[in-house]
Amino acid sequence: MDVDDMGQDLERVLLDREQIDARLAEMAAQIDADYAGRDLLLVGVLKGAVMVMADLSRHLHSAVEMDWMAVSSYGAGTSSSGVVRILKDLDTDLTGRHVLIVEDIIDSGLTLSWLLSNLRTRGAASVEIAALLRKPEAAKVDVSVRYVGFDIPSEFVVGYGLDYAEKYRNLPFVGTLAPHVYAD
Ligand code: PRP
Repeated sequence: MDVDDMGQDLERVLLDREQIDARLAEMAAQIDADYAGRDLLLVGVLKGAVMVMADLSRHLHSAVEMDWMAVSSYGAGTSSSGVVRILKDLDTDLTGRHVLIVEDIIDSGLTLSWLLSNLRTRGAASVEIAALLRKPEAAKVDVSVRYVGFDIPSEFVVGYGLDYAEKYRNLPFVGTLAPHVYAD
């Protein structure tokens, strides 16, 4: 799926695939340098982080391990409540591990704030965050994020793992939706 397949549903492309790939390569170089000589466990947060995990990890030069979590925010509406339920937990024991949480987006910050606290109780040697996107204007809590791809405006974005009603995750770019798509 690409721009042409979106027809009138796409408002504009915010970050194209070349911009995303170039930034992920820079982030990977930094991660390689920071974790040199240490075993790293990447923890992807389903489902949005699938694309970031796939592309970021392929830019790394070290043989990392990968694991996955699925979490769900309680509460009404589309925004996070900060109360998080684990739908799928890690298979990996974190004792003594260097853990890097991989996320597609930090919106309010509530999900990652909770996840960071949760993983830090499991005896890891370190827990840090890499996120492709961050919306500074939407922040409700301050989350310390070691690797950020892009700070973006507080708009509804889709693509590259991000969905609207479970669709558009398979776009290779990040874009904004035309209002008629979600106006119903
Ligand atoms: C998105 C995203 C983060 C969270 C960020 O996941 O992947 O996990 O929301 O929002 P927050 O900073 O306001 O907590 P979502 O719950 O949409 O699930 P998905 O990854 O399956 O699309």
